Amino acid sequence: MVSPLSRKNLHIVVLVSGRGSNLQAIIDAEHTQKINSKISLVISNQPNALALEKAQKAGIATLAIPSKNKSATVFQSELLIALKKQKPDLIVLAGFMKILSKEVVSAFRGKIINIHPSLLPKFPGLNAQQQALDAGAKTTGCTVHFVDEGCDTGPIILQKTENILPDDDFESLDKRLLKKGHEALIEAIKRIEEK
Ligand code: GRF
Repeated sequence: MVSPLSRKNLHIVVLVSGRGSNLQAIIDAEHTQKINSKISLVISNQPNALALEKAQKAGIATLAIPSKNKSATVFQSELLIALKKQKPDLIVLAGFMKILSKEVVSAFRGKIINIHPSLLPKFPGLNAQQQALDAGAKTTGCTVHFVDEGCDTGPIILQKTENILPDDDFESLDKRLLKKGHEALIEAIKRIEEK
């Protein structure tokens, strides 16, 4: 095991769109010193996202960049400006429901990670949990990967498997996958700190 002292202290920006359970997992890991890194800013494309409240409660700076009623080009350039200003070591997509533009990806290549609720390359895109149920899969899981220009296609950092039970529905499966995803995300951040 690598000593916590030899791990880097990264400056993280988290991008969110919703309830923010993954964000909360990072905040908790920071508070319990499971990770050395610190979140300096949380950006949401949804001004009313619960995730923003979670960040504020933890005393973390927040920024809403609404994506509604504007073109993707305008939204992505506003996002790029905000990210460049922050100069993050790591950008975590934690339930961020937008695909990053080529410009954003290339400005921060190798520094952006995403958590996805399936064993990629299986079931990319939206509703991965339901896709696994509909396919009659016996197992699924979650993946933390580096983000490239594609949708859920970048190099995989780590994966965790979860069995699908005969009476699973979206809700029951999602609950277990979320928990596993939180563990995977923290483990991935630790691995990046160790590089
Ligand atoms: C999770 O299903 C995660 O795997 C996916 O989006 C959801 C985010 O949930 N990328 P939350 O907003 O972090 O609670």
